[in-house]
Amino acid sequence: MTDVLPPKGLPVVRTPAALRDRVRAWQREGKRVALVPTMGALHAGHLALVTRGLAQADVAVASIFVNPKQFGPNEDLERYPRDEAGDALKLARVGCRLLYAPDVATMYPPGFASFVRVAGLPDLLCGRVRPGHFDGVATVVAKLLSAAQADVAVFGEKDWQQLAIIRRMAADLDIGTTIVGCAIVRDADGLALSSRNAYLSADERARALALPQALLATREAIMAGMPVAAALAAGERRLKGAGFGHVDYFELADGETLHSLGAPAPGARLLAAAMMGTTRLIDNIAL
Ligand code: PAF
Repeated sequence: MTDVLPPKGLPVVRTPAALRDRVRAWQREGKRVALVPTMGALHAGHLALVTRGLAQADVAVASIFVNPKQFGPNEDLERYPRDEAGDALKLARVGCRLLYAPDVATMYPPGFASFVRVAGLPDLLCGRVRPGHFDGVATVVAKLLSAAQADVAVFGEKDWQQLAIIRRMAADLDIGTTIVGCAIVRDADGLALSSRNAYLSADERARALALPQALLATREAIMAGMPVAAALAAGERRLKGAGFGHVDYFELADGETLHSLGAPAPGARLLAAAMMGTTRLIDNIAL
């Protein structure tokens, strides 16, 4: 497929070879390149990834690919919001220089048979309720990193488990791209930005605020000396009280290994995932 220019001129490439050519050309000029992988439906959180990339590199390249391999059979692949032209405008405005937007047949042509699986980490937290999800993420991210061969790649800390898995994979596979985490961007009231917030009704959006509030209250309680198990149970009750349905987890875990912690420790992270109506929301904060 050939390159096309969407409105306002952000160039789009649709094949790994075209992406690599562009990135190599910049690198030959002595420029460092940052890759920002996304699934589109871009909000301020994604645009912060581009800005973070530009703090570490001279050129930012974003990718948009709604990766079917990371969606379970009953998940929202079909209704996942898609707006490539709108996304391209947003990316251009924050200084992104190139969009890589391959189609499914390019990423997974007939006969595609490889999977990247990081052992252990994908079985915890979100992985318990989304079997196979992180294998799909690791596979597509390995492909994107390998195609781009950028100097850095930026991922949001909202998907803390995803970031931990990608760091592990990049280290294990000697991928020469430095993985950079970017702090969560929140709405003024504290709700973490997510493309899936668009699914929330006004009432659900108001109730969803209990998620960051419960994490903050739990951190305060733990820092004030409350036993971790009791503080986590209180946090979970707070979510239920606010109208959340099933709470997939509300845990204190090591930020790198993601193993559950029964007591505060350096690098610990409070992480939660819960259903608001039919929308699954995740969030996390440092202890
Ligand atoms: O975080 C996301 O948007 C996706 O999981 C990613 C990293 C782009 C892989 O599809």
